[in-house]
Amino acid sequence: MIWNLGSINIDNFYEVPHLPAPGETLAARSYHSGLGGKGANMSVAAARAAAPVSHIGAVGPEGKWARDRLMEYGVDTPHIALIDVPTGHANIVIDASGENNIVLFQGANVALTEAMIGAALSEASPRDYLLMQNETNGQGYAARVAKSLGLRVAYAAAPFDADAIAVLTGLIDLLVLNAVEAAQLHEATGTPLEALGIPDVVVTLGDEGCKWVSNAGVRAFDAYPATPVDTTGAGDTFTGYLVGGLDRGLGMEAAIDLALKAASLMVMRHGTADVIPDLKEIQDRFGS
Ligand code: RIB
Repeated sequence: MIWNLGSINIDNFYEVPHLPAPGETLAARSYHSGLGGKGANMSVAAARAAAPVSHIGAVGPEGKWARDRLMEYGVDTPHIALIDVPTGHANIVIDASGENNIVLFQGANVALTEAMIGAALSEASPRDYLLMQNETNGQGYAARVAKSLGLRVAYAAAPFDADAIAVLTGLIDLLVLNAVEAAQLHEATGTPLEALGIPDVVVTLGDEGCKWVSNAGVRAFDAYPATPVDTTGAGDTFTGYLVGGLDRGLGMEAAIDLALKAASLMVMRHGTADVIPDLKEIQDRFGS
């Protein structure tokens, strides 16, 4: 079981000819909205990887549909609180090559209480996963409670913040980050990934795949070929599938392979949580 302390956002997508420069006003070529947030994206990805996942989070009155949609996607939602704070949202600008800029409003995602988190984790069992990203409050508390209960803690260091990850020192079992975040972490700590004392670190490298850093050394994995149209949510899809696969008992190599396949399909789609591929789509594209 995965307990995902994670953000839930209303994602607003604007397709533009190029990413706007400072001071520039730019007309969007198209607009649509959907379910997003790094947390919700990871919950949906884990559910589509056939792992049981319970989301811990909050939405405001206008975001009740987002909670309902997570439930429709197979995510347990009893620990998503409906509170009187606006739902988080993200304004996502995507250029013709699929690159993006995101402006976040955190809203209800940072109004969680220790009581809400504690109530959810009191239902967890040893060897379950606590999954987190850096778009909610309460991460340190959640990690300490999870470790005391014998859970494994997986953390996606996005958006990167050196102080947020410092709070989790000694508590992370699996760290997932992209190359930019890995460089930021190295700069903040002065410590190479291998010497962080984290049992498993996975660094995603876009079209170059990923590397897994563990006690056994560094192992590189190639990406599956893809022609990207929108990279938004691809990292979240990778992490959700990775933790989902591990939770279902796959070894790290097999879970990474599954996650790379899911991410390669995801970059060829527009949108976030609503378009994350399921296992059947992965099997149809790649075989078993
Ligand atoms: O990683 C993509 C996500 O980042 C989007 O869904 C958006 O909501 C932001 O949280």
